[in-house]
Amino acid sequence: MQTITVRAPSKTYEVTLGRALLTQAGELTAHLAPGGRALVVTDSHVDALHFPTLAKSLRAAGLTVEKFVFPAGEASKTMDTLAALLSYMAACRLTRADAVYALGGGVTGDLAGLAAALYMRGLPLVQLPTTLLAAVDSSVGGKTAVDLPEGKNLVGTFFQPDRVLCDTAALETLPPAELACGYAEVIKYALMTDRALFDTLCAGDGGALEQIIARCVSIKAAVVAGDELDRGERQKLNLGHTFGHAIEKASGYTVPHGHAVAVGMVLVTRAAVRRGLCPADCLPRLVGLLAQYRLPTETAYTEEELLGAVLTDKKRAGDRMTLVVPREIGACDLLTVEPETVRAFLSLGLGGQP
Ligand SMILES: NC(=O)c1ccc[n+]([C@@H]2O[C@H](COP(=O)([O-])OP(=O)(O)OC[C@H]3O[C@@H](n4cnc5c(N)ncnc54)[C@H](O)[C@@H]3O)[C@@H](O)[C@H]2O)c1
Repeated sequence: MQTITVRAPSKTYEVTLGRALLTQAGELTAHLAPGGRALVVTDSHVDALHFPTLAKSLRAAGLTVEKFVFPAGEASKTMDTLAALLSYMAACRLTRADAVYALGGGVTGDLAGLAAALYMRGLPLVQLPTTLLAAVDSSVGGKTAVDLPEGKNLVGTFFQPDRVLCDTAALETLPPAELACGYAEVIKYALMTDRALFDTLCAGDGGALEQIIARCVSIKAAVVAGDELDRGERQKLNLGHTFGHAIEKASGYTVPHGHAVAVGMVLVTRAAVRRGLCPADCLPRLVGLLAQYRLPTETAYTEEELLGAVLTDKKRAGDRMTLVVPREIGACDLLTVEPETVRAFLSLGLGGQP
C-alpha cells in the first residue's frame, strides 16, 4: 500500500493505492461523513462486481449506504443522468455532512464528482477508481463533467476529491480491452515526462501495475499542484488528445478514447519528427510500445474528415490553439499556434507532404 499527497491549491488530499482497499474504505473515510450517510454512485457493471464489498465496509464503519446506479457507458454521462442523480440526492435528504462515493471508471467519477460539486454547493467526495484510466488519470485532479449533444465534457467544474482509494485488486475484473485503453494514458505520461517509465513499459510491466499507477499519479499530482485550473503545464496532459478527440468525434465515438489517444500520440510525434522538433527514433519506439500494449497506431480517417473536429476542439482559445508536441521520449512542449499550423501538423502526422 502506498499514499501520494496531492497539494492542489484548492485542497490537499491523499491518493492511496493497494490491494483490497475497498474492504478498508469505511474505516479510511467515515470521518468525511459525520452525518452518517454514504451515497455510492456506480454503473451497472461495477455495481454487480464491487459494490457489495464497498457497502459492507462502509456499513461496518457505521455509515448508512444509499446507492445510485446508472447504465454503464459514456452514453450515460449526460445532463439527464446528472439531474436524476441530483434529485436522488435530494430524495435521500443528503446534507453537507454526508459523502458521495464514486465507484467506477471515468464516467462514474466525472458524473458523481459534478453532482458532489453542485448539490448544496459541495459535498465531501471519495473517488474509488476501478478502471486503469480512472486510476491514473480521471480520479485525480478534480475535473468533473457531463457531455452535451454538442460535445464531450462541455459542462463541468473543477472539484477536487477529499480522498482517492485505488483498490488494485478491483482492476483485475477489467476486460482486456479496457485495460489496454488505460495503458494508452500510462504511455502518454511516459512519453510526456518520464523516460524511465517508458523504458519500464518497454520491458513489460512485470506485474508491477501498482508501481506504474503510483508513478502516473505522482506525475499528475505534481502537474495539478502547479496548474490546477489547466492554464499552462496541465495542458501537457492533453498529449495525443487534440488529434485523438478528432478521431473519436469523426467516428461518432465508436473508437474508444484510449485507442484514439494512442493514434493521436503517433500523429503528433510523426509531425514533430518531420518538422525536426523530435529525434526520428522516437516514432518507431512509440509505435512499438503502443503495439506491445495492443493499441492501434494508425487511422483510416483523412485530413478532411478530422480537420473540422480538430479546429472545434474545446481547448481552442480564440484564434489560437495549444498543441502538445513531444521533444524526445520523456519530454514535450506546449506550442500555441494558428489553426493553419495545426492543419500542417495533422497533415504531416497522417503522412502528407511537409
Ligand atoms: N476527469 C478527468 O480528468 C478525466 C480524464 C480522462 C478521462 N476522463 C473521462 O473518463 C471517461 C472514460 O473513463 P473509463 O475509460 O474509465 O470509462 P468507463 O467509466 O465507462 O469504464 C469503462 C467500462 O469499464 C467498466 N468497468 C469499470 N470498472 C470495471 C472493473 N473493475 N471491472 C469490469 N468492468 C469495469 C465500466 O462499466 C465501463 O463499461 C470519459 O468520459 C472521459 O471523458 C476524465
